[in-house]
Amino acid sequence: YESLSVGELANKLGREPSEIIKKLFMLGVMATINQELDKDAIELICADYEVEVEEEIRIDVTDLEIYFEDSEEVEAELTERPPVVTIMGHVDHGKTTLLDSIRDTKVTQGEAGGITQHIGAYQIEVEGKKITFLDTPGHAAFTTMRARGAKVTDITILVVAADDGVMPQTIEAINHAKAAEVPIIVAVNKMDKPSANPDRVMQELTEHGLLSEAWGGDTIFVPISALKGEGIDHLLEMVLLVSEVAELKASKNIRAKGTVIEAQLDRGRGSVATLLVQDGTLRVGDPIVVGTTFGKVRAMINDLGRRVKEAGPSTPVEITGLNEVPQAGDRFVVFEDEKTARQIGESRAGDALQEQRVEKTRVTLDNLFDQM
Ligand code: GTP
Ligand code: MG
Repeated sequence: YESLSVGELANKLGREPSEIIKKLFMLGVMATINQELDKDAIELICADYEVEVEEEIRIDVTDLEIYFEDSEEVEAELTERPPVVTIMGHVDHGKTTLLDSIRDTKVTQGEAGGITQHIGAYQIEVEGKKITFLDTPGHAAFTTMRARGAKVTDITILVVAADDGVMPQTIEAINHAKAAEVPIIVAVNKMDKPSANPDRVMQELTEHGLLSEAWGGDTIFVPISALKGEGIDHLLEMVLLVSEVAELKASKNIRAKGTVIEAQLDRGRGSVATLLVQDGTLRVGDPIVVGTTFGKVRAMINDLGRRVKEAGPSTPVEITGLNEVPQAGDRFVVFEDEKTARQIGESRAGDALQEQRVEKTRVTLDNLFDQM
């Protein structure tokens, strides 16, 4: 290697850039993550990790993160971005009905002729402000995404049926949201039912650390009927309120990065992926690495099924142009040029394959031991 930046070297070694910076500091070299290192410095560091410089050092598959945490952000101008909301709750408590109800009342209005596509997420506008809803089953989204270290949700709406109260998956949802440090808004649903008992819901949730504002706590409870569309406006106002408090920021003028919401193989269009842009602006033609695959954004479709040329922070878009089908929860990062995207993509694919092989060998050995 002629020269590498600290970040690139860390990446190749599968180490944290901060660790490399610390080592350089011990060697008397003050460095930043973007600093180019000469051959001597690279060799010193590699020797320290007992890595031969000549050896082909492959990029670790988990290391797209380094691009994700790009320091570009520091210089970029931050502006307010819409909140990304997930709906969670126990089976049959009304998650799908609520998602549909929100979409029906807010998306089609003023978007005459707009046909809502199912792309795993949609965006609405309330009082001139946008809100993005992830429409994949909340629990699955949380578990797969969190297993991959992705944080996509800003706010969780916890749906609890007023006639049923707190159930196992309600508690599970609370635990997920707490672990991810995502604020919870409680939607007490099915208020139209004669058997609705909202006080019981409030009481039961107290035991799980969610104390209603009415009782001196700081959790927002909103009574709704997802079926009849009642209380939805109030619920959305509360989402905006919590969002304002969270001061969600992103930059529009950097290369896009974000997370895969869902992806599949389409007969006609090839690999189709719904991406949530979390920072920057994604554009048609952008060279992109997604998980362990890569490509060039060929076409983008928004949640209304319209072709768009660009997508800013918190916007879900469906893209085509990837070589393979990525997985939900995979990160994506746009690169400056196609060559880099290809190199990194191919290297990551190779690593993933190798990891799979190692995994298989391990499994086979385990099986062997099980049989003994
Ligand atoms: P899963 O996806 O199976 O976990 O269920 P879900 O949480 O998505 O619930 P869903 O929206 O499918 O609603 C379950 C049932 O409750 C359906 O029959 C809905 O019509 C009904 N339901 C949902 N919201 C309300 C409501 O506000 N009032 C009444 N009366 N029924 C509701
Ligand atoms: Mg459902």
